[in-house]
Amino acid sequence: MKSIEWLGDALRILNQSKLPAEIVYRDAVSYESVAEAIENMEVRGAPAIGAAVAYGFVLGALEYQGDLDGLPAFMERVQARLAETRPTAVNLFWALRRMEDRLRECWDMDDIEDVRKVLIEEAGRIAEDDRRMNRLIGEQGKEIIPEKANILTHCNAGALATVEYGTALGVIRAAHEAGKKIHVYADETRPLLQGARLTALELIEENISVTLIADNMAGYLMQQGKVDLVIVGADRIAANGDTANKIGTYSVAVLAHAHGIPFYVAAPTSTIDLKVATGQEIPIEERPAKEMRECFGVPVAPEGVQVYNPAFDVTPAKYITGIITEKGIVSAPYSVNLLKLMVRS
Ligand code: MRU
Repeated sequence: MKSIEWLGDALRILNQSKLPAEIVYRDAVSYESVAEAIENMEVRGAPAIGAAVAYGFVLGALEYQGDLDGLPAFMERVQARLAETRPTAVNLFWALRRMEDRLRECWDMDDIEDVRKVLIEEAGRIAEDDRRMNRLIGEQGKEIIPEKANILTHCNAGALATVEYGTALGVIRAAHEAGKKIHVYADETRPLLQGARLTALELIEENISVTLIADNMAGYLMQQGKVDLVIVGADRIAANGDTANKIGTYSVAVLAHAHGIPFYVAAPTSTIDLKVATGQEIPIEERPAKEMRECFGVPVAPEGVQVYNPAFDVTPAKYITGIITEKGIVSAPYSVNLLKLMVRS
């Protein structure tokens, strides 16, 4: 199952909001269609969103009807629309910046078809870079996994959340492929159940032993000594190591700390945002109340009850044992070590 696939003139998006009950695809032929798919979380997960907006940008350039002179203004509108879809995952803005930079390099070209070709190539590189980075994260990360390990994860940071392979689940996959005896506890991850619907599905397909738990069970499991380590993904990592990830990650980190359990974040360097000094500056998306009042169309709360639905929280760096990236594993002091990592080739 691929999260996204470029078809040459359309972006095929696996609608993850329907999994595992239904396998439905959207073949997006416009940037607006890609924007809607991101807003509806048909495609979700920081790296997958990054690659999707890159192709959304390409679709904008393919849709444009006028002459070359009008393209920059049109592409500004395309970029603004794609940028307003989801605010927290920095990969979205990282990918848009890459596409914008490539477009700017094309201004001396005479033929719009040449410009389009350059943009398609750049989006392809963004997708390919993600595949490569995830494999490397797996290679780096598998070393810290004991021969026998019970690992707890939150949300879905797997193949579905990326272009291929996954970050947190990439580490788990690589350890499993290396012959380690891995068992995973997957938090179901309310309100949209990415853990239950997506992580459990991916692990079952890979023949990796998995037990699904409700989010409020993690502490009890840790108290019983059933969790050896925690690995999660990330949506944005600040310069000081504070990490935004799916709502509930912070609670898991505090629990892990209280029980002396290592807590790792796995993410590509495209998720590190050195422009943001601490986690307090990371914008946190709030999602519609409907997602809390209903569970996939079934009411689970009184109609009209007040709802607070932040999609992410920030785990302070002090609770993070290490950040696993494609360039290596970083630990505290993060302000120094993340900077060193980012300049490393
Ligand atoms: O709201 P989502 O499902 O897009 O949130 C996803 C997460 O929080 C993931 O853990 C994160 O994006 C990393 S995915 C490799």
